[in-house]
Amino acid sequence: MRVHLSILSLFLFVSCSKKTFVEDKVFAGGIHVSAGKLNAGEQIYKEYCMACHGVKGDGKGPAHKGMKVPPRDFTLGIYKFGQVPSGDLPHDRHFYDLLTHGLNGTAMLPWDLTEGQMDAVVQYIKTFAPKVWEGKDKELGEEIIATKDPFGEAHKSAAIQKGKEVYHAVANCQSCHRAYVSLEEYSSINKKVNNEAIDELDEDFYQTKQQETEYGYMNVPPDFTWHRIRSAKTVEHLYIRLSAGVGGTAMPAWKDTITDEEIWAVSYYVKSLMELRDTPERKRLMSRLK
Ligand code: HEC
Ligand code: HEC
Repeated sequence: MRVHLSILSLFLFVSCSKKTFVEDKVFAGGIHVSAGKLNAGEQIYKEYCMACHGVKGDGKGPAHKGMKVPPRDFTLGIYKFGQVPSGDLPHDRHFYDLLTHGLNGTAMLPWDLTEGQMDAVVQYIKTFAPKVWEGKDKELGEEIIATKDPFGEAHKSAAIQKGKEVYHAVANCQSCHRAYVSLEEYSSINKKVNNEAIDELDEDFYQTKQQETEYGYMNVPPDFTWHRIRSAKTVEHLYIRLSAGVGGTAMPAWKDTITDEEIWAVSYYVKSLMELRDTPERKRLMSRLK
């Protein structure tokens, strides 16, 4: 009897301390991760992330219900805010940035984790999408680095004006987002940029237009004067986001589609729109746009 009990307790001890990972793994970019780190990452995940992102990493944790922006489903292996062209795999550092700063206006808050903890939990979440991450042959996206700002503070108003033209007449951002100019101004911008006068506006010119995503839900492109921008606070952040796009959504990567100077200009313009949030100027602008 006594022997049986001790065998039983030995068995219990072994099963309780059973580790999920016994083998090391190699992830995209040749990143070698020990089993010990993955087990540590799992513990951090359970403590801090699972409530939203779920036991299986599918974004269906107990706290996900009713969230306007659903927690990411990690089994898809698609990410919105890497500093790489959308659709490519982000670098670890991009995940650390995201964990350190959070995503504005969503339930994804900034976390106070050490770099070691971030490293462990980031490696762990990759294990939810093994087909995307595992293997020596898998590659990370090419990192997008900000070029030298061709405008700078001294030429800020010129940048904003040019950005307004790029937004409404070169890139046509208002085809998903909304427009911020009157018919008169839209027509004069188009005359200048495309040598074409406009005498009528589309019905949804001043509305944001819902878009499909690869995450299984529709999303709304932000109105920059109203919604919070998730991954960008400064002109330089915007430059990177516009160059990279937003993975798994309709928001394209603008790098190589418009010129580098145009990306900088439109970044200044979007920043100027973000600054209108909660101001009387916004009210005045909106009352002119009917
Ligand atoms: C309170 C809920 C909540 C918790 C807790 C939470 N997240 Fe999130 N997380 C979200 C939401 C919501 C999003 C989706 C944001 C979006 O789509 O814009 C998200 C998105 C992400 C993304 C995707 C980023 C991208 O580029 O697509 C990663 C990675 C992530 N979370 C990691 C974590 C980690 C690691 C933890 C734990 C340290 C954690 N999250 C804890 C709600 C949460
Ligand atoms: C084909 C549709 C489409 C076009 C065209 C488009 N966007 Fe977007 N954009 C989106 C969608 C959808 C989102 C929301 C992505 C999300 O967070 O889920 C978005 C998000 C953004 C964001 C927010 C990123 C963040 O961190 O929250 C910025 C800034 C942005 N777009 C700027 C622009 C600019 C500037 C242009 C034109 C140069 C443009 N977009 C053109 C669909 C579009």
